[in-house]
Order: sequence, then structure tokens, then C-alpha cells
Amino acid sequence: MPESHTLQMSRRQIFTGGALAASALALAACGGPGATGGSGSDTAGKDPSELTIGIAMPTKSSERWIKDGQNIRTQLEELGYNVNLQFAEDDIPTQTNQIDNMITQGVNLLIIAPIDGTALSGQLDSAGEAGIPVISYDRLIRDNENVSYYTSFDNYDVGTQMGTSLLIGMGVLDADGNDAGKSPATPYNIEVFGGSPDDNNAPFFFNGAMDVIQPYIDSGVLAIKSGQTDFNTVATMRWDAATAQSRMDNLITSTYSDGSRVDGVLSPLDSMSIGILGALKGAGYGTSAQPYPTVTGQDAEIAGIKSILAGEQYSTIFKDTRALADAAGQMAVAILTGGEPEVNDTETYDNGVKVVPSYLLKSEIITKDNVQTSLIDTGYVTEDEVK
Ligand code: BGC
Repeated sequence: MPESHTLQMSRRQIFTGGALAASALALAACGGPGATGGSGSDTAGKDPSELTIGIAMPTKSSERWIKDGQNIRTQLEELGYNVNLQFAEDDIPTQTNQIDNMITQGVNLLIIAPIDGTALSGQLDSAGEAGIPVISYDRLIRDNENVSYYTSFDNYDVGTQMGTSLLIGMGVLDADGNDAGKSPATPYNIEVFGGSPDDNNAPFFFNGAMDVIQPYIDSGVLAIKSGQTDFNTVATMRWDAATAQSRMDNLITSTYSDGSRVDGVLSPLDSMSIGILGALKGAGYGTSAQPYPTVTGQDAEIAGIKSILAGEQYSTIFKDTRALADAAGQMAVAILTGGEPEVNDTETYDNGVKVVPSYLLKSEIITKDNVQTSLIDTGYVTEDEVK
């Protein structure tokens, strides 16, 4: 079993029922230091039923955030905490209002996945003044000292997995990720897409992927035929599928009307991949004479998995939101009981003001070969949902 799975399972096992309650009590008893950037101390020793945790998620338009929100809420409610869970439909003023209200209502801790990582400074200042600890969830909140902790995946690694799966799908790497020794007469054509420029994760994904892809551009195996290579040019505001589809439409018209073929597309999100595949379909791809290029993705969303099983999208990156919810819940409990949350990275996530102590999880490449073992057998999705 890979190390990441062992780690996630052991955290999961700890974070269930009585075992967690016992560990929470143990933490409370040893009365460790309070959280960085939030006191937590005035909550230690209180019954969970006296405490409320505010959870601010960015949107319900993407499946993963619904699961994240529900998973964190379930974990904490099972332990007796009160939970105020809000989704902001990708609208920044909605999210700032929701967090303002939570602070006014006196929540004891905030778990926030920001829409725009730079847009919450006012809220973080108020949280700091009120002594409310803040856990930045999956996406880093930037430019404020009152971010107590961060939990996410190893986002650079998620990017290298995207890049690696693109190269495996194109046959540039073999199934084990080793160089397959391709040296085409003319380079294979790829196009690259980035995520939302206001999301701290998006450059991590893009840089991770490009670090894997770039050597093959340098050696002439691949070319980004449009010449659109830098993050700001290829970024997709709010990860919007329609924006990705229309950029792919434009690329096909501007760059591939000479009869050349798109052989690969780096896409950082399943719903964007579906938009990109739609544009390609409209241009005649998806037939035996003109198969789809290798298209990557992220999040193992139902529609993405279906597309993979239908032989359209090639890959996705599975980030187990159950494990992330566990990690966030465990952090919250440690802080509220006066303990110190477990972290495994104290270097990578500099939010512009401080390096935020982080707990990072591992992700996994999914293709049609491991949908069953990694997603269905683990109960992340059901067979009925994806088949
Ligand atoms: C998350 C991804 C998600 C994207 C769009 C990123 O911050 O890490 O998992 O696909 O946002 O919602």
C-alpha cells in the first residue's frame, strides 16, 4: 500500500467516533499551547455543544466542494460541535458577508476555502481581533497573518501528476513514468490550460505540470503550437468550463486550421476538460479517423470519471476530500481543545506575510485502469454513479 494511503487511513481511523473523542480529551488534558494566530485557549475544556465552527466553502457548482463541506460538517457534528456551513456560489461579496456574519455570531473557529485568496483580509483582521482561529482549507488565504493553519494536498505534486499523466497518455512516458524514447519528426502538439489566477493553488498545479512537460518541449518531442505558454495567458478565471471551451475553440481556429492536430491538452479540472472536449468534438475530433487528444483533469468528479470510462478524457487527479475533511476536523479539534495540530510542512506555503504551518495530503493519478480500485472500491463514488 502506498505511503499516502497508509497515512490517510491512519488519520481516518484516528478520526472516527470514540477514538477521536479520546484523542481530543487527551489533547485537552495535556493543555498544549494555543493556535498560531488565534487563541483557542478560551475554548479548551468547554463541551463541544457550547462551541460553533463556521465553514465557508466557495461554491456548490463544483461537486468536490459540496462533498468537502458535508464531510467536515458530519465529522464535527458527530463529535457534538455546532456547525454553520455556507457556500458562496463563487461570488466574493457573498463569501465575505457569510464570514462577517459568522464572526458577528461569535463562532469559535473558522474553516475557510477562499474564492479569491487575496480578498479576505478584512474578515481575517476581524477574526484576529476576536481571537477566532482560522484554518485555510485547500486554498491558501493570502496576505494576512491571522491564518492559523493550512490543510490541503501537495499541490505542486498534484501538478506533476497532471503533467505525468499527459505524457503517459501521449506515449511520451511509459506506464511506469519512464521515458519511452519517442523522437517524432515533428513535435506532438499540445495546448496548456491553467486554473483561476486568484487561486493560490493554480500556479502550483501549473508549475508542477510544466516542470514535467518542459524538458520534452526543449528536446523537440512536444510543442505548444499556439505559443501560449505563460500562466497568466492560459489561466481560466474561476475555473470556468465555458471559458475553457471558448479558449479551446479559439485555439483550434487560430492555430490548427492548417490541418495539424492537437495531440494533448493539459487541463487542471474535470469540468474544464469537458468544455475542452466539447470544443474538440465541434471541430471533428472524437472519431476513429480523428481521435481525441490526451486530455487530463482534476478532482475525480462524476462527469469526469464517466468521460474517462467512455474513452474521452484520459485522466484525472483524485484528491480524497474525505481525508482532507478529516485533516481539517482534526486540526479544528486540536485547536479548540488547546492542543497543537499535527503539521507536516512548515516551508512551502508562504502567504505573503508568513509561512503557514500546513498538513498536506497525497493525491493519485486516475485513468480507466484504476477507476474501480481507487474510486469505486474505496467508496468515493458508487458504480451506479459512474457507469
Ligand atoms: C482545488 C481544486 C479544484 C479547483 C476548482 C482548487 O483550489 O484545489 O481541487 O478543482 O480549486 O474548484
